[in-house]
Amino acid sequence: MNQNWSFNIPGSIIFGNNSLSQLSQIAKDFSPKSICIVTDRGVSEAGILNKTLHILKDLEVTLTTFDEIEPEPDIKSIDQCAKLARENKVDLFVGVGGGSPIDVAKGASIVAKYDGSIFGYLGVDNVPGSTIPKVLIPTTAGTGSEVTPFAIFKDKERQLKTAIQSKHVLGDTVIIDPLLTHSCPPKVTAVCGMDALTHAIESYTSINSSPMSAQCSIQATNLIGKYILQAYKNGDNVEARQSMSLGSFYAGIGIANAGSGAVGALSYPVEGMYKVIHGIGNALLLPYIIAYNSIANYKKFEDICTALGLESKTGKDATVNVINFINDLNETFQLPRTLGDIGARKGDIKTLADDAITRQRILVNNMRKLDHNDIMKIYESAF
Ligand SMILES: [Fe+2]
Repeated sequence: MNQNWSFNIPGSIIFGNNSLSQLSQIAKDFSPKSICIVTDRGVSEAGILNKTLHILKDLEVTLTTFDEIEPEPDIKSIDQCAKLARENKVDLFVGVGGGSPIDVAKGASIVAKYDGSIFGYLGVDNVPGSTIPKVLIPTTAGTGSEVTPFAIFKDKERQLKTAIQSKHVLGDTVIIDPLLTHSCPPKVTAVCGMDALTHAIESYTSINSSPMSAQCSIQATNLIGKYILQAYKNGDNVEARQSMSLGSFYAGIGIANAGSGAVGALSYPVEGMYKVIHGIGNALLLPYIIAYNSIANYKKFEDICTALGLESKTGKDATVNVINFINDLNETFQLPRTLGDIGARKGDIKTLADDAITRQRILVNNMRKLDHNDIMKIYESAF
């Protein structure tokens, strides 16, 4: 546990059922003349875009919508969105959706202000200063992107996942309205929930966790562990949806401040090579990485075991309980359990490890050190 720490969160957070209705008032605080709503077709089809436009209709502003975003957005869509924003002199972004629209809104808010291309701002702390303001509104309970200083993109040309990390991409205001997640189908609820559970566990076990981030991570573990199945089975269960939104939010704050670990680092190469959705890559690798990591600090997994509401165990037994719990969830959700299930070949392991080892930004947080050989072994264990 890191006893010297700092803690960063978005400027303002509004949480609660129907909180989307406050958007107009919130937008007014930025005195905008031109707003760009960044979203995707799924959000439009669920009626959430219309609802958002309706709420903003009384503002005397130009409204532009950018919804050409795929589930895992190609990095080029950021420059397209920024071009549209520049043409319309946009002075406020509203990102509405899962992680993809929110990350595109974050990226476009940089490029629209500083020009050039998103490729000039990738990596850690390469954003020169504050961006065009952004209000971020998640419609899933999973990525936590609305509260993190990260934006993740797919580079289709190079078949890579690439990222921006900067405090300047944190939202100015975040609106978390759990009612918006009710339209998520069961599979999306499950995959997003597993992503959030991964964030919770990885941030709790990160060597950079602090007393403050650990509180968020363990609360997230508790809420997601308790409610993920209910949200999956009954999407209109208000308590389950509210708790998953809160859990995902806490987990996002956890990774924003303590970082994620080996699951993130090893999943990105898998996602890039086999075109697997982020939450599925995480859910698949999480049990194998816990099995590798736990020897470094069994106490952490005793805490996680208790937070998940499982029978309290000590030492290695607690880890086994946690792994069984995750395996059971993956089975219930009919998610792939091995790399073979997603079409990976053992001959690809070295290429995957060559990519994963470059992800030092994330690997440095992992509770147990990994070298190239360790990463190869974890991938091998996942077949
Ligand atoms: Fe994630």
